[in-house]
Amino acid sequence: MRPCPDHDRLGCPMERVNRVNGEGPVPCRIMLIGEAPGKNEDAKGHPFIGKSGSELTYLYLAKCANIDRRNVYVTDLIKCRTNDRDRDPSQSEIDACSGILAEEITKVNPRFIGTIGRLSTQWFMPDMKMEKVHGFGYKYSISLFECLIMPLYHPAYGLHNTPMMRWIAEDFRRFGQMVRGNGDIMWRAR
Ligand code: URA
Repeated sequence: MRPCPDHDRLGCPMERVNRVNGEGPVPCRIMLIGEAPGKNEDAKGHPFIGKSGSELTYLYLAKCANIDRRNVYVTDLIKCRTNDRDRDPSQSEIDACSGILAEEITKVNPRFIGTIGRLSTQWFMPDMKMEKVHGFGYKYSISLFECLIMPLYHPAYGLHNTPMMRWIAEDFRRFGQMVRGNGDIMWRAR
């Protein structure tokens, strides 16, 4: 285990094998933000490469959303695996690490963001329940930055709960529609 390289700058309290940085084109129209790296991501140092990563790439992105992952910047809210049981990160860990995410968003300058799972969704929309917001598009703006955000159920959900796969697939189908500017998704202003 090694301490986070941004420990001094950000006060990050975490230790892990690898810090998992975001990957993809810069700048990029489409950005996906997951929660935190799992075992495989920590071992190899790349985001979404485990089982839920292949489901994300080949099933939900390619088949459901009709989006090639090579055209997407993929990252996580937290850049380090929390522990060997993948516990949820604490608020202080999120506060320390999300500074890196804010820098990535500035650099990538996405037009569309998919927040994968509850934690990254709630970073943009505090206290929002996934059941209420998933699959809907939201206008988001902060100072001069503007984009459209869609909360998406996490592909890992479907690995343990097969009926959920239908909902995850439908979220990604709608995400693809949002990116292509198709009109049959509901817009909710924030
Ligand atoms: N789950 C996530 O949220 N992110 C990853 O990088 C891998 C699994």
